[in-house]
Amino acid sequence: MSTYSDSQRPLGDVRYNQINASTPGYDPYTSYKPPKKRRSKWLVIGLPLLIILIIIGAVVGGVLGSRKGSSNTSSSGSGGSGGSNGGSGNVDGAHSSILHQQGRFAYTTDAYFNPVYPSTTDTAQFATPTFVDANNPSINWPDDTFTSSSPSLANLRPDRPRLIAGKHKINALPTLMAGDPYLKGWHDIIMNNATVYSNLPPVVHVFDGGPSGSGILDPAREVKQRIKHFAYAYVMTSDTAWVDRTWRELQNAVTWASDTSNPDNDPADQWNSKHFLDLAELTAAYAIAYDWLYDQWTTDQRNTIRSNIVTYGLTFGVAAYSQNAFWQSVNGNWNCVSNAGLIMGCIAIQGDDDSGICNTLLNQALTNAAANCVNVPTPSGSGSETPNYWYFALTGWSELTSTLQLATGGGDFGMLTNNPSFNLTALYHMYVTGMTSLFDYGDHGPNKFSTTDNCLFYIGSAYNIPMYTLWQRDRFTAAEPWSMFWYDPGVSGAWWDGLALDKLFDDDETRWGSMRTSWTDNDGMYVAMRASKLTGHQTHGDLDGGDFVLDALGERWAGELGSADYLGNGYFSSEAQDSVRWLWYRKMTEGQNTLSIAGANQNVNAQPVVKFDSSGTAQGSSTVMDIPTDSTAYMTADLSTNYGQNIKRGIRFFNGRRQVLLQDELAGVNAVTYWRMHTNATVTIDGNNANLSLNGKNLQVQLISPPTGVSWATVEPVRTADAPQLQTGQEADQPNPGVTVLSLSIPASADTTTIQVIFNPQWDGFSSFNTPALVALDAWSLTSH
Ligand SMILES: *[C@@H]1O[C@H](CO)[C@@H](O)[C@H](O)[C@H]1NC(C)=O
Ligand SMILES: *[C@@H]1O[C@H](CO)[C@@H](O)[C@H](O)[C@H]1NC(C)=O
Ligand SMILES: *[C@@H]1O[C@H](CO)[C@@H](O)[C@H](O)[C@H]1NC(C)=O
Ligand SMILES: *[C@@H]1O[C@H](CO)[C@@H](O)[C@H](O)[C@H]1NC(C)=O
Repeated sequence: MSTYSDSQRPLGDVRYNQINASTPGYDPYTSYKPPKKRRSKWLVIGLPLLIILIIIGAVVGGVLGSRKGSSNTSSSGSGGSGGSNGGSGNVDGAHSSILHQQGRFAYTTDAYFNPVYPSTTDTAQFATPTFVDANNPSINWPDDTFTSSSPSLANLRPDRPRLIAGKHKINALPTLMAGDPYLKGWHDIIMNNATVYSNLPPVVHVFDGGPSGSGILDPAREVKQRIKHFAYAYVMTSDTAWVDRTWRELQNAVTWASDTSNPDNDPADQWNSKHFLDLAELTAAYAIAYDWLYDQWTTDQRNTIRSNIVTYGLTFGVAAYSQNAFWQSVNGNWNCVSNAGLIMGCIAIQGDDDSGICNTLLNQALTNAAANCVNVPTPSGSGSETPNYWYFALTGWSELTSTLQLATGGGDFGMLTNNPSFNLTALYHMYVTGMTSLFDYGDHGPNKFSTTDNCLFYIGSAYNIPMYTLWQRDRFTAAEPWSMFWYDPGVSGAWWDGLALDKLFDDDETRWGSMRTSWTDNDGMYVAMRASKLTGHQTHGDLDGGDFVLDALGERWAGELGSADYLGNGYFSSEAQDSVRWLWYRKMTEGQNTLSIAGANQNVNAQPVVKFDSSGTAQGSSTVMDIPTDSTAYMTADLSTNYGQNIKRGIRFFNGRRQVLLQDELAGVNAVTYWRMHTNATVTIDGNNANLSLNGKNLQVQLISPPTGVSWATVEPVRTADAPQLQTGQEADQPNPGVTVLSLSIPASADTTTIQVIFNPQWDGFSSFNTPALVALDAWSLTSH
């Protein structure tokens, strides 16, 4: 698989300077006091219960421990049955109850690495999310002894680490780990991965598309990932072999100047300021090494690392600020990652450095992040770029914010408060995660390496929202060094308890809807659809109004193609109508699961009008959803501004969320319209039925009363002859192996043409499929079907 990464954009690019002028009235030096932890009734009831459970867990776990060990190695196959409304359980009942008593709800993952929850109506432990007894030292972090009533960058904590997690947490971790199966499990994985990394040769310098293409972002993030693991392993074991291995890695990435394989490699700029993210990630990595292993370095080693941070990192940060680099005015990942590297670098060396390089830079970076990075979440909490780019921005945000709080004794300098919607961005991540994978519209971004979604732990604690902490701790990605400290082990309950199944993320930047049948049964159904502005996404979006994904039976049936060629000339040039970006198949309208009028791209200035409603069904504490027959949700979008002709699209659940209806209305459209859906399934057409099969599962896609001449066809995942073609010399489209386009050609008509398509997942033992009545989209309601 090729490695893509974000592209360099010209410094001072006018377009980027227009985005997101600084927030009026913003004060970067407002200090933030975390909200007091609420005491709930669970303090009274929950604690004795917890103690009883721990005792039971210890006894049962001790007796049956070996069984857990062997079953735990299985990581695939949910073996589920019965679809979304119950069924007979995904896992061995006895096994799951043992793990419950040990406090770990989901102990295995399915083929998509999603947690598999036991199917059980025994809700004894599935209580309302809460942070329990804040004063119990066996389940809570000790208070930091360094706190300040007026946190200031001029008054940093006296001890180290200053970055991410302090000594008080490191010292408490072994005790907390002993009582928390999540922490214990992650620790084992981290130590194991640290060993794997230590046995590899140091990271090799390799340019992806030269210094100003995707640069050395992959190697930079790989170095950071390793340093995090080595530093963690050292502080947990005091084994100096980890310090030596860290030194080897650090020494290696400052010999990258000598790589002559690429004539554009500038020895004086070996962390590659031309693609500033690379430099920022390496600066952060060196800062972590400097700070976490501070006492282990000789004076010479310390001077060397500090000098590397200044020479290859911060010096270029000063230059970037004096030249108004484009990333200083964007509310995207570039701002968070770049500023996080500079801030972590400065805080690590502050007090030791006598060059004064951070005297201005630290304030500049902080002021800038507090005005721009904080606005990555839109007013609804959505990521401003794409669901995958959210990971990069939020990792930078949480690294820099946790560092500020730790280093200054509690100051967040506006990083937590300047955007009142910040606390919603974890919900975005939860709702954009389907039954299999993300609703991953737009670009997918480079390899993640040191980047994760563990900001959910940090956000959960910082905003006192235990649901986020609980959601994240069952994720595959949770086993990572920062989780060990961002996670609050005093959390208890079931994150899904009371959580609504559906949600519209409702702002002009990112409007999209999310609907599902369950939060805990990965075999259920998920549909999500997008109809938002097509610009303002840092050139990472697609021309995709009306685009949808559909999951059912543990498979993705309608999916996304993802990024096109990051190194393609002009790929990130602009979001204007005539941008070459929109000429790549994966970015153009035909490459999405939507309609196109004779292959044409949608209008980039579209402003679709959306209606969304839901029965408001929420999951209870049980992992088994009992869905009322009248439970439903729908989203309709008037896409007329996307097409310049009258087109509406709606998608909804009906029949108690057992089926999905997708309806399009074309009023007097004067050219042929293509209906397209990209699928990995094998498609067999049988009259009005398109039978899709994927990994042994089946989904019937049925055309209801089609207009004359409209019938299913399957075509290759490439543009039609009608669509805009690549320019001469433009890099070719990537192939989409295994993908089929299920398609309809709808002839021009002076009248209104309605296309109704229903999706019937072939659940085991369920055959009561209905055919919905024809109801115009404008008349859709919660009771219309
Ligand atoms: C870390 O270890 C886990 C469990 O062994 C493994 O699945 C995962 O791929 C490892 N992570 C990395 C980044 O190597
Ligand atoms: C998020 O914060 C806002 C205030 O900024 C508050 O009104 C809202 O209730 C919070 N939402 C959640 C889910 O905590
Ligand atoms: C096909 O499967 C791959 C791997 O799971 C996935 O990334 C991709 O989005 C799928 N494509 C479609 C069109 O569903
Ligand atoms: C398509 O699926 C339907 C419903 O499951 C089934 O009755 C029909 O035989 C299938 N047709 C083909 C050609 O497989």
